[in-house]
Amino acid sequence: MEANHFNELPKSPEPYWRESANLGSFPTLDADKKADVCVVGGGITGITTAYQLVQEGLKVILIDADQLLNGTTGHTTAKVTAQHGLIYDEFIQHLGQEKAKLYYQANQEALHYIRDLVDLKRIQCDFSEQNAYIYSQTEQDDQKVLKEFEAYQKLGIDGDLTYELPFSMETKSVLVMKNQAQFHPLQYLQVLIDGIKEKGGEIFEHTVATDVEKTRGLAVVTKNGAKIECDYIVAGSHFPFYDGKGFFFTRMYAERSYVIAAKTEKEPPEGMYYSAGQPSRSLRYVNINGEKVALIGGDGHKTGEGKDTLEHYEALKSFGEEVLGIKEILYRWSAQDLYTLDKVPYIGRITSGHPNILIATGFRKWGMTNGTAAALLLQDLIVGRNNKYKDLFSPSRFVADPSLKKFISSNMNVAGHLIEGKLDRPSKKPEDLGLDEGGVVSINGRRAGAYKDDKGEVFCVDTTCTHLGCEVEWNHGDRSWDCPCHGSRFSIHGDVLEGPADKPLEKL
Ligand SMILES: Cc1cc2nc3c(=O)[nH]c(=O)nc-3n(C[C@H](O)[C@H](O)[C@H](O)COP(=O)(O)OP(=O)(O)OC[C@H]3O[C@@H](n4cnc5c(N)ncnc54)[C@H](O)[C@@H]3O)c2cc1C
Ligand code: FES
Repeated sequence: MEANHFNELPKSPEPYWRESANLGSFPTLDADKKADVCVVGGGITGITTAYQLVQEGLKVILIDADQLLNGTTGHTTAKVTAQHGLIYDEFIQHLGQEKAKLYYQANQEALHYIRDLVDLKRIQCDFSEQNAYIYSQTEQDDQKVLKEFEAYQKLGIDGDLTYELPFSMETKSVLVMKNQAQFHPLQYLQVLIDGIKEKGGEIFEHTVATDVEKTRGLAVVTKNGAKIECDYIVAGSHFPFYDGKGFFFTRMYAERSYVIAAKTEKEPPEGMYYSAGQPSRSLRYVNINGEKVALIGGDGHKTGEGKDTLEHYEALKSFGEEVLGIKEILYRWSAQDLYTLDKVPYIGRITSGHPNILIATGFRKWGMTNGTAAALLLQDLIVGRNNKYKDLFSPSRFVADPSLKKFISSNMNVAGHLIEGKLDRPSKKPEDLGLDEGGVVSINGRRAGAYKDDKGEVFCVDTTCTHLGCEVEWNHGDRSWDCPCHGSRFSIHGDVLEGPADKPLEKL
């Protein structure tokens, strides 16, 4: 980690969590294997699912395209809460009170699962119970918070309405959800990884699932050709690595958010905070070397559609200055999460035609509890137990109002990105770029992406995303090429950093 003093941003984006966990490494799969269940994806969803399934006595293989916990879970802010922004009033309006309550219960149960496991296994992961707060600053947001409080009362959510925050900020109203939690996600999941190994589960890293074969039973096909034959497949790969005619690329989009970890003038308060209004702001503290450090997050936007990404960090820095005063920024990082059309995750059988292929995705930046709830639901589906949350989360549920409207606009957006870039003829040439600058350029009249590093070396790629052909955009904060359609990300060399794309951008 390279931290600059005097409030400057660290040069490269590194999450705090990885540096303070001891994860080890796992081999790459290089020969065919058999298992009861193949779990694809080593984030909180895949690891918790694999952990639960080995407790059932099943033979499980867990694979990850990269290293375990280097996806969104490794870049989270790790609030463990059922307070997912202002959502319950909206769910009551659109899904009905019963389903809104089920969503709350599934997430509360997930919180209790994490808390009980931490107690039972005495997991040293800085778990602490905290209240969660949403605050409003404008009249309009105040009305929304009041409606949300009414929804809490209808659903029996243990909450309260107050008017002040324990840091300097004028607020109209503050909605509390009591007895929620925060933790160190990687220290917690490390113990689950050990639990998978102890029960005979096998784990492989740098093993990319590319397809599903259905000739004799089911098999996950990996990029280097090795296959895993199995009875069930769980896609915990964030964006499902296999679509199975579920058309998830038309039903989901990715949003990127930013985080800084900063030493502050005033000690960060107890509690976890979230703004009711936009741009989003999130605050919690984390203990680093015995000191309370503020984790300030937010400034989310659709992937590939932000301003210069460094400006997002600057915005968080200004917020931190305002509320606590910033002494030093120790870390900065960003990541993305997926949104479904009705804001409820897709968890369960991918389609009715593929009953043994299960997915869990679309957590809308609330995956600590949603990912855990997913694992518990998928476990029940695999062992054949009834689960009351099955219909709520079903990936093939009918997409009703208001999703339909968003469905159409989301698709138009994707269509726009498909066409837009192809017509665009940038005037800039690779030689016009300054040092450490990237952007869309023209090479022999063709649209291309170029990045010139600190030494003047230029790396050029075709900007056509290898997933479904949208045009990638330059992300200066992370020095990557990001696709606005479904969130694939590529390095300056064109290599895949994040799916659903599984092929690199063409190098030019
Ligand atoms: C900035 C930010 C802050 C957040 N803060 C919070 C918070 O405070 N509380 C909260 O509850 N949630 C939060 N979230 C959301 C939460 O972090 C995510 O919802 C959650 O981590 C998703 O977990 P996952 O296991 O589904 O996906 P991931 O953690 O992304 O794991 C998926 C894994 O699958 C692997 N993979 C992908 N494709 C393949 C393939 N083809 N083959 C093999 N492996 C593959 C990837 O390498 C990756 O390791 C936040 C999200 C962001 C972006
Ligand atoms: S076209 Fe789907 S991620 Fe790029």
